[in-house]
Amino acid sequence: MKLGILVSGRGSNLQALIDAISSGKLHCSINMVISDRSGAYAIERCKVHNIPYTIVRRRDFDTTESFEEEMLRRLEEVGVDLIVLAGFMRILSPYFIRAFPMKIINIHPSLTPAFLGKNAQRQALEFGSKITGCTVHFVTEELDSGPVIVQACVPVLPEDTEDSLSHRILSYEHRILPQAVRWICEGRVKVVGRKAIVEGARYGTIPVNPELEFF
Ligand code: GRF
Repeated sequence: MKLGILVSGRGSNLQALIDAISSGKLHCSINMVISDRSGAYAIERCKVHNIPYTIVRRRDFDTTESFEEEMLRRLEEVGVDLIVLAGFMRILSPYFIRAFPMKIINIHPSLTPAFLGKNAQRQALEFGSKITGCTVHFVTEELDSGPVIVQACVPVLPEDTEDSLSHRILSYEHRILPQAVRWICEGRVKVVGRKAIVEGARYGTIPVNPELEFF
């Protein structure tokens, strides 16, 4: 399977995929990374690991459609089968999403459908949730609300700041993202109605202290 990965920043989830591939846990290749920011640290990771990357910035295009068209062209050029949004900070239009139906996945730092959109970790803290987490889901036209492939729950501690909570959630993001990609590569994920069904997976959710088959 050929992956195309969209990033905007640090790229630690991209790194988790790179590591899972190099350690032999994930059998696929990263054929293109697109960053919408020229200074994204994710690009440095591509350079280190010899991964093809390109920068496509919204401000270089007149319309969202022409910006997205360019991203699609670059992804189609290398024949990607699956697009992973790994910290891509833009909302894709239906035009882009319809070009790859149920072939785009996103990692979101909450247990969807709670705390959608930006600053999900801050939203959980401000709400006073005692448990939050992260979700890998298919991207549909509804923001952060597509069929859930896998979730991990993470405790919110009384002394948490947005940073400490984000950090704790992130360590689980790095496990469930490669896990979801692996299941898709193995052909085990089907979408039925609004649900993603993972064939043979015993757990849709990774609990707080997982001693399971996951990464
Ligand atoms: C992660 O928290 C992810 O859930 C969110 O953006 C952040 C990206 O982090 N969508 P990184 O760039 O992968 O380090």
